[in-house]
Amino acid sequence: MAKSLLVLSLLFAQSLAGSVSFVKNDGTPPVYESSTPPKITSNSTQGDKNYKAPLFPILNWTQYENNPILGANQNRGWEASYVYNPTAMVIDDMVIVVYRAQNSSLISTLGLAWSTDGFNFTRYTEPIFYPTESYENKGTEDPRLIRVNGTFYLTYTGWSDDDGVKLCQATSTDLLNWNKTGPVLPDIEHSKSGAILNERQPDGNYHMHWGDEQIYLAVSPDLVHWTMPTNDTYATGLLQWEQKLIESGPPPVKTRDGKWLKVYNGVADETKGDYVEGQYSTGQMLIDPSLFPYGPPLARLETPILTPNTTDEKEGQVNNVLFSEGLVQFKGQWLMYFGEADTYLGVASAPVQP
Ligand SMILES: *[C@@H]1O[C@H](CO)[C@@H](O)[C@H](O)[C@H]1NC(C)=O
Ligand SMILES: *[C@@H]1O[C@H](CO)[C@@H](O)[C@H](O)[C@H]1NC(C)=O
Ligand SMILES: *[C@@H]1O[C@H](CO)[C@@H](O)[C@H](O)[C@H]1NC(C)=O
Ligand SMILES: *[C@@H]1O[C@H](CO)[C@@H](O)[C@H](O)[C@H]1NC(C)=O
Ligand SMILES: *[C@@H]1O[C@H](CO)[C@@H](O)[C@H](O)[C@H]1NC(C)=O
Ligand SMILES: *[C@@H]1O[C@H](CO)[C@@H](O)[C@H](O)[C@H]1NC(C)=O
Ligand SMILES: *[C@@H]1O[C@H](CO)[C@@H](O)[C@H](O)[C@H]1NC(C)=O
Ligand SMILES: *[C@@H]1O[C@H](CO)[C@@H](O)[C@H](O)[C@H]1NC(C)=O
Repeated sequence: MAKSLLVLSLLFAQSLAGSVSFVKNDGTPPVYESSTPPKITSNSTQGDKNYKAPLFPILNWTQYENNPILGANQNRGWEASYVYNPTAMVIDDMVIVVYRAQNSSLISTLGLAWSTDGFNFTRYTEPIFYPTESYENKGTEDPRLIRVNGTFYLTYTGWSDDDGVKLCQATSTDLLNWNKTGPVLPDIEHSKSGAILNERQPDGNYHMHWGDEQIYLAVSPDLVHWTMPTNDTYATGLLQWEQKLIESGPPPVKTRDGKWLKVYNGVADETKGDYVEGQYSTGQMLIDPSLFPYGPPLARLETPILTPNTTDEKEGQVNNVLFSEGLVQFKGQWLMYFGEADTYLGVASAPVQP
């Protein structure tokens, strides 16, 4: 595997160029909320009007100077403790985020927020997704969304006394009413973090990357029934900043040249150089799903594009975590949405390549 890996040698300084703003907010960010959610239907438009597919890699990420953009909301019990780990999509010319919220018993539900500028969000007063089934009775966590033919496909972690941690799925056309289809790979003892490529691939299936130690591949003819074509890993942590584990970030994005750019999260296994043990950072790899089914990734960045740099990312419910789960292109820039120390929700931006 290592043989065919092409590590791009990019200077750290270059991959973080422009990351100059590290202003800590005092206290939690302001709460704007509404009891009327946006009316989304299967006819809603998706994506930015002037969307331009990327080339690998997307560089020059800058953390938003007023992070965090969302945090706990004392008005609402269900999100009174922590708000983080968002998936994101552009729908009807708004950025929509679906995020993980924890109440004071630390039970997770999913909330909805929307924005016309990508930074200032209004949230819906009610959770849009919460435990109803036995396989998720201790929480519904860490959402990732794609939308195909007008239907949203949500992957999330269902946590329960009986089944432990299982990657689960649900579908919706409006983000409010959901059909839960249950654990995606019921026979796998521990599964998490499903990132689906939103187009059918050359082998005739949809592809999903899953796993929170190494990344594995699952395939589906219909986006609902999934199997593993191989038990071999698709990608593993190789570099110092990701040696302990790697885990998918947002759903991969198709590149201008027909490959796919995958943003992922990695954890350092020792304190050395720029990284501390257990630190979650965000990286990028280039994949080619026509190399079915084994991978491996064609290339990956040598250094992360985002690391826990601010106080809000270094100290929180879990220290030293910047966990990316949402990536959109909106009004001429890329926006990455991430959890900060499992406590807050932040955003970073990068230019769209000409
Ligand atoms: C979507 O648009 C079609 C054609 O205009 C219409 O018939 C249908 O009712 C719309 N569906 C929804 C859910 O709004
Ligand atoms: C990234 O920033 C560097 C240094 O500021 C600049 O030379 C380069 O053109 C930028 N790249 C992109 C894609 O914006
Ligand atoms: C947190 O949410 C769970 C599930 O809805 C509920 O059983 C529990 O009572 C809630 N805890 C608090 C303190 O509201
Ligand atoms: C953010 O949105 C809220 C609600 O729409 C508005 O009251 C507030 O002025 C906005 N803040 C900024 C900085 O745009
Ligand atoms: C949910 O399930 C119902 C009943 O099977 C079906 O009619 C509906 O189309 C499904 N909706 C979605 C979004 O999958
Ligand atoms: C979505 O629509 C395309 C084009 O009609 C079709 O090929 C594909 O199978 C559909 N996918 C799903 C999951 O319904
Ligand atoms: C993967 O491992 C399981 C359990 O050992 C086995 O049943 C299955 O056949 C394996 N799948 C493949 C594609 O080899
Ligand atoms: C951000 O973190 C990196 C490594 O994690 C470090 O090299 C850099 O100096 C930090 N930047 C700031 C502004 O703290």
